[in-house]
Amino acid sequence: MSKSKTLSLLIAGVWLAATAALAQAAPTAALNAKFGVCFSCHGVDGHAILPTYPNLAGQNKDYLVQTLKEFRDGTRPNPIMGPMAKPLSNTDIDQIAMYFADLKPGKK
Ligand code: HEC
Repeated sequence: MSKSKTLSLLIAGVWLAATAALAQAAPTAALNAKFGVCFSCHGVDGHAILPTYPNLAGQNKDYLVQTLKEFRDGTRPNPIMGPMAKPLSNTDIDQIAMYFADLKPGKK
């Protein structure tokens, strides 16, 4: 193998490792586009921007799914979260619940 080929493989490896490390903390562009509004209050790392907003990092996925459906159908009425949950599909809810559940809690 040529030297330059070895070098480019090495660079690719480092790049992959860096991307994998980033992926743990940063959401994909698609997630950001869809759920950026959620992150503006609950934090992209699941730690809320205000002490009166709940932290969601590491919360149970099933709890997050259930509570978002309750906000959506009005079983758990809330003037902020009701309108936030209204446009979410079941797939959206699954996706964002999985995202927050996977984050490390308590690292603020
Ligand atoms: C303007 C700020 C704001 C935005 C934007 C927002 N939330 Fe919330 N969220 C809150 C507040 C405040 C509560 C607490 C509501 C209550 O008192 O029940 C909450 C509660 C929640 C809860 C329940 C937490 C628990 O412990 O029961 C979940 C889950 C949640 N939000 C997810 C989301 C998702 C997903 C989005 C985006 C679609 C979002 N939020 C957008 C402020 C916000």
